[in-house]
Amino acid sequence: MRDVTLTDIFMHPITQKYLKRSGIAHALEVANHSFHLAFKYNVSVDLATKAALLHDIGHYEWYRQGKWDYELYRENDIHAIKGAERAHKLLIRLGESPQKAKQISVAILLHTDSYLPEIDVNRSPLQKVVKLADEMDEEKGGGHHYKQIDYGTALQKIQYLDKLVDQYLPKQQLPHEKTV
Ligand SMILES: [Fe+2]
Repeated sequence: MRDVTLTDIFMHPITQKYLKRSGIAHALEVANHSFHLAFKYNVSVDLATKAALLHDIGHYEWYRQGKWDYELYRENDIHAIKGAERAHKLLIRLGESPQKAKQISVAILLHTDSYLPEIDVNRSPLQKVVKLADEMDEEKGGGHHYKQIDYGTALQKIQYLDKLVDQYLPKQQLPHEKTV
């Protein structure tokens, strides 16, 4: 039994407010990809789907005269840092354990290289899964951020993913540190 489900996270007003900026459809796609990749990399489907759902929660709106300004965004974006912090606060508030909240938060912090100086990051399997899942849904020109989905359909998809996580999590044979 999990303390916090994807549905709990998804329905929270904080998630709804911030995920709309980067696109709920994208967040759901990345959560689905992460679920499948979690088996390949032998990481918890619970952690992988939560980190994926929340990976873009840190976006700021880079609007200039009503349009998204990519130049401003590229120069000043820190959405992975902001998202890691925002997700951590939300997860703790919902009752997630500090151990899980930390792992999810750090995976969000490292899901992109876009804001990092040129260093080689040696990612853990969980961190790799979230980064790869995000890349799998990427479209040219940031199209993945504009895909639309209505609330009811999104909720159904997230509830279905919760069912899959509940079904497969107990069957996973994970190294101890990845099961917390
Ligand atoms: Fe993303």
